[in-house]
Amino acid sequence: MKKLAFFLGKGGVGKTTISSSVASQISREGRKVLIVSLDPAHNLGDVFGARLTDARTSLGPRLDGIEIDLAAWVSRYLKESREEIRENYRYHATINLDSYINILKYSPGTEEYAVLWAIEHIHREHREDYDLIVFDTPPTALTLRFLAMPSISLMWVRELTGMREKILEKRQTVLRLNPEASVVRGAVKKDEDRIYSRLSGIRSRLTGLHRIFQEESYLTVVVNPDDLSLAEALRIRHELEKLEVRIDSVCLNKAPDEGACKEKVEDSFRRFPVFTSFHLPDGVRGAEDLARIDVEDLKNDLIGRT
Ligand SMILES: Nc1ncnc2c1ncn2[C@@H]1O[C@H](COP(=O)(O)OP(=O)(O)O)[C@@H](O)[C@H]1O
Ligand SMILES: [Mg+2]
Repeated sequence: MKKLAFFLGKGGVGKTTISSSVASQISREGRKVLIVSLDPAHNLGDVFGARLTDARTSLGPRLDGIEIDLAAWVSRYLKESREEIRENYRYHATINLDSYINILKYSPGTEEYAVLWAIEHIHREHREDYDLIVFDTPPTALTLRFLAMPSISLMWVRELTGMREKILEKRQTVLRLNPEASVVRGAVKKDEDRIYSRLSGIRSRLTGLHRIFQEESYLTVVVNPDDLSLAEALRIRHELEKLEVRIDSVCLNKAPDEGACKEKVEDSFRRFPVFTSFHLPDGVRGAEDLARIDVEDLKNDLIGRT
């Protein structure tokens, strides 16, 4: 069984509902489950009628919930970056750290990194305690960006590592020619070079996250019987394939019946299993209704993946 599960899709298709339903049903059957909301517009707590925070709250036997405080993770990320810059550029008294950090706060990537570090933290702290960790994701744009972040950042880090290796090689050449050379300041060997080891550290952290998405995660795209949510689901699949992150299945939610709409989704997603959850005419009002949503096949597919 894969350790993590992510539910993706357009706003309103039922990501929170289906992820809650799967988490709740799997826990009722005896496995320990943690459900985590990454959506800044938290409404996971409402589904269970509970107040969720950054710390674990019990939602029933073998089921706990967390709502990630994204703003707190952004502050933590900025603080870490600040410390790191201060540490690495101690000799540059001219850098105005405060204004740099203010820019970083509004820079592309900050929110994505905050989500990534939150996922990394949840994975590290809680993976041993649970059989499954279910993530209710934020809107598609942010989800795609944080899933893409490890591979894209890895490209940068590889380039920078290559450049750093060249600099170290050049230093070695100069030293061979003239062991007294004053132009060679700083380390010449990789394991003594602070920047090289910092890059290696970032690289292994990002590789770890990419591996979590690629190998340890079950990804489902939720769609409804309408063209817009289907178009968005196809876009998600396409974007993720470019990053070598594969989705595992499609969940057609709010289906009126086993009819034409399922065929249409299956036609668009050949090679992927499509599971249907029917529309509950009275809506989903509380935790008891989660048991009424049919996620049997989706749940079994998730449990069956190793
Ligand atoms: N199978 C279903 N039958 C009836 N209502 C549903 C179903 N799935 C979701 N809903 C309702 O649709 C609305 C949006 O669902 P939600 O899970 O919040 O979507 P998302 O998290 O993707 O934005 C909610 O009011 C929810 O109760
Ligand atoms: Mg939601």
